[in-house]
Amino acid sequence: MLLVKCVTNDAEMLRPNLDRYLIAENCINHLQNQINRELHASLVYLNMGSYFGQNLVARKGFSKFFHDASKEEGDHARKLIDYMSRRGAKVSTFDVEMPTKDTWPDGKTALEDALSLETKINNEIHKIHYKAEHECKDPHLMDFLETEFMEEQIDSINQLKRLVSIISKMDSGMGEYLLDRQLLSGSVGKDEL
Ligand SMILES: [Fe+2]
Ligand SMILES: [Fe+2]
Repeated sequence: MLLVKCVTNDAEMLRPNLDRYLIAENCINHLQNQINRELHASLVYLNMGSYFGQNLVARKGFSKFFHDASKEEGDHARKLIDYMSRRGAKVSTFDVEMPTKDTWPDGKTALEDALSLETKINNEIHKIHYKAEHECKDPHLMDFLETEFMEEQIDSINQLKRLVSIISKMDSGMGEYLLDRQLLSGSVGKDEL
């Protein structure tokens, strides 16, 4: 197979015939795993969006917020797929972990679940970045992760932390209802909190 082996030392790094266009095989695997994680997140948010949209729950704002998040995670998976294609890597069969919850006691619990999911994903992206630097010696991949993923993760986590803070200081019921209306009107975007 026409793939670069993991570059482990400086001597190999300086080999004139090493094709730096291709992604090292172990980094291809890390990216493939990241696609699976983004698709998992997309499904988790789809379940959250569906739950809050039911007429027995009637939190259209939370539903919209999580449906938007679901689409965003799908876009992240596609971004990784595009990047792999641009660098000549083959995307393998997806192996996506299924969501395990379809019900949340309230909006706050769902926001807290989303926050812990985003934190986990952010940590994984940092691990891939470390491996891109130390195992694959791939500055282009590092730049791609920094520009397209790390920045976005910080904004996402910041937004969720702020939403959890806001909702934690409200008495649920009326407070959750008012935040729901704001989420529906789109007036609590990442820059407005
Ligand atoms: Fe994502
Ligand atoms: Fe995300």
